[in-house]
Amino acid sequence: MTVQRRTLLASAAAAALAGGLPLAAMAQKKIVLGFSQVGAESEWRTANTESIKSAAKDAGIDLKFSDAQQKQENQIKAIRSFIAQKVDVIAFSPVVESGWDTVLLEAKAAKIPVILSDRAVDSKDTSLYVTFMGSDFTEEGRKAGRWLVEKEKNEKGPVNIVELQGTVGSAPAIDRKKGFEEIIKSDPKFKIIRSQTGDFTRAKGKEVMEAFLKAEGKKINVLFAHNDDMAIGAIQAIEEAGLKPAKDIIIVSIDGVKGAFEAMIAGKLNVSVECSPLLGPQLMSAAKDVVAGKSVPKRIVTTEGIFPMEVAAKEFPSRKY
Ligand code: AHR
Repeated sequence: MTVQRRTLLASAAAAALAGGLPLAAMAQKKIVLGFSQVGAESEWRTANTESIKSAAKDAGIDLKFSDAQQKQENQIKAIRSFIAQKVDVIAFSPVVESGWDTVLLEAKAAKIPVILSDRAVDSKDTSLYVTFMGSDFTEEGRKAGRWLVEKEKNEKGPVNIVELQGTVGSAPAIDRKKGFEEIIKSDPKFKIIRSQTGDFTRAKGKEVMEAFLKAEGKKINVLFAHNDDMAIGAIQAIEEAGLKPAKDIIIVSIDGVKGAFEAMIAGKLNVSVECSPLLGPQLMSAAKDVVAGKSVPKRIVTTEGIFPMEVAAKEFPSRKY
């Protein structure tokens, strides 16, 4: 290497260290994004992970992906490791809402911006993250409630509902419950007679529905499941109990994954409220903006619909997850 080239490289490195990367070096520098995922608990989550991985590839972003296996302690470890690695941006989908302030303060002290993807945290200090992108879970719960109120408008009641909640303490479980209750409370004929967590998984959805059926039997008129996977597990339990899902028990769920469309086409699920997992492209574009020093909106809400079984066959071919 010539003396001139060595001098050039040394001055480029010095400029980079000083925070002012020369243009050519900046163009070559890949953004490093550390992402901590909740786990692989549902069809939705798998689609979300795929969306993030493929969008990172398309955007030329170096993604450091970590699967927390539905444990907050694993997410905290992953975030600390991203801080130690000095990544450019950290993003994560918090398994539960509470308990993030300490680690988010550590990221702030290290000057690493944090993006919340899919789920919120309940931190009072909103300067701990730059943006929160994802669905309005309360509105999803309301949509489920409104659909049920309309469906049962000619029913005298009581309309006995069993509820399969998502992961305890998670934003979607808290907000979907809140939104659903807000709507059904307008008519006292709607009664939630049992409510328990199924942790967003098919296996637990089935197990808890079996217990509901054992305790309440034919008294159950409606199942409200906080996601499609638990509804699909519950459908198995209902069939094994000799009942007809979507006929003997109305089933309302959330996500709109392909598995739910298949169940609706088979006449076993009445409706699924959409919750899009395809957040990857939005996340990469926000990461680029944040690194470039551009401002991003504090809240980016995903636009979503609702799919009753009557439209499932027509909609199915265009479903992307
Ligand atoms: O946070 C989104 C929720 O988490 C989805 O509804 C559910 O399927 C997932 O596990």
